[in-house]
Amino acid sequence: MTVNTKRLHVITWGCQMNVYDSGRMADVLAPLGYAPTELPEGADMVILNTCHIRDKAAEKVFSELGRLRLLKLAREAEGRKMILAVAGCVAQAEGAEILARAPYVDIVLGPQTYHRLPEMVARASRAAGAVIDTEFPAEQKFDFLPDAAAPQGVTAFLTIQEGCDKFCSFCVVPYTRGAEASRPAADVIAEARRMVDLGAREITLLGQNVNAWHGTGADGLAGLVRLLAEIDGLARIRYTTSHPRDMDDALIAAHAEIPALMPFLHLPVQSGSDRILAAMNRKHTADEYRALIGKLRAARPDLALSSDFIVGHPGETEQDFEATMQLIRDIGFAQAFTFKYSPRPGTPAAGAGMQVPEAEKDRRIYAVQALLREQQAAFNAQCVGLTIPVLVTGPGRHAGQIGGRSPWLQPVHAIGPVSLAGQVVEMTVTASHTNSLTAILKQERICA
Ligand code: SAH
Ligand code: SF4
Ligand code: F3S
Repeated sequence: MTVNTKRLHVITWGCQMNVYDSGRMADVLAPLGYAPTELPEGADMVILNTCHIRDKAAEKVFSELGRLRLLKLAREAEGRKMILAVAGCVAQAEGAEILARAPYVDIVLGPQTYHRLPEMVARASRAAGAVIDTEFPAEQKFDFLPDAAAPQGVTAFLTIQEGCDKFCSFCVVPYTRGAEASRPAADVIAEARRMVDLGAREITLLGQNVNAWHGTGADGLAGLVRLLAEIDGLARIRYTTSHPRDMDDALIAAHAEIPALMPFLHLPVQSGSDRILAAMNRKHTADEYRALIGKLRAARPDLALSSDFIVGHPGETEQDFEATMQLIRDIGFAQAFTFKYSPRPGTPAAGAGMQVPEAEKDRRIYAVQALLREQQAAFNAQCVGLTIPVLVTGPGRHAGQIGGRSPWLQPVHAIGPVSLAGQVVEMTVTASHTNSLTAILKQERICA
């Protein structure tokens, strides 16, 4: 057994796939003696796992690097080393610029090469000068990652698919994560089993286009979910993020037929205007999205929906924006994420004419957020009085409290013993808030 003698601090931005990747990077470094630490002060290695999706996300990396440089210098003054690594999507997109702007960075690595971290760390420890690895190697990193993984807790993320071939006008993901690739069903099932052995009761399957999963050993995502649902001790399955174009009938049927598949779906639509959807290269209309939601709700009437919206895409007029507001009113979302369009270098929309002024984007995002907040509050309010199965995840924020998750992904707080963590228990909802529910235990245990 390796004795953990070095401290590793990881800072994560971006999507859930980055959260998963950060965990895996720590797993890869564990055999080298690195153990996670909460603070960068005193760390032997710091990894920034970055996001390039919007301009602000990328800028944060450079300000954090400036702060870490001071820590690194202070450590060097004591004759000790701090390896500073930049990973993730900013590293992939702007590797050279990072080294130009922050020459004190030791390692730059893209999302597809972190299985090679031990070798990079060895090189960085030996020599002066930065190590950069932003290839898309032919070998799939998953085949080279250790089986041993630190437990994630009662709820866990599992990446099953990576990359994107869709090329939406505004998005960097096809460039930073590369082409779509799916992991074989057998690998996914083996990893899910290990997660359950480590205490996971809910697994969220991840992919930039998770419902385009087409790995070997199962018939599409629906087939894979059916296989996972057979794992003993796995009470709940979710998946994110999906594209409307890949929402096939088999997956819709899975929502009707598989009790472990939770009645919550994040299905980004981005806009309610056909003109803008076409300009975005989303390859579906607003009415096709409405029809899809109709089918999903027919299959699973209690399905709650979440989405992503972008306001101010180039060419978006007041009328286009109104079409988005109308789509939101027509569908009714339980939750949603809203973004002001942010031009990303190298993407088609960034060079397009008719950019929307910032002040107009601000006005539109306030309006759309107000409407979505109202819908979220209404959705939460209708849960009051219901008795629902809650997966207890651990202690709550206050003494004596436990926290958990509803089937519809709402955080739930109740008074109760932490010993219930990992169990699905019935609770009666007594109050609703913007982002969460308060409930009381109905002592009975319904599922281990
Ligand atoms: N693969 C997923 C989401 C990827 S990124 C999908 O296709 O839905 C997450 C969200 O960030 C997107 O859904 C979009 O709403 C937002 N986003 C992506 N690029 C953006 C940009 N340039 N400006 C603003 N928001 C953006
Ligand atoms: Fe980006 Fe579009 Fe791919 Fe989603 S589907 S990751 S928004 S290019
Ligand atoms: Fe960001 Fe990369 Fe995820 S750009 S949203 S971290 S895929």
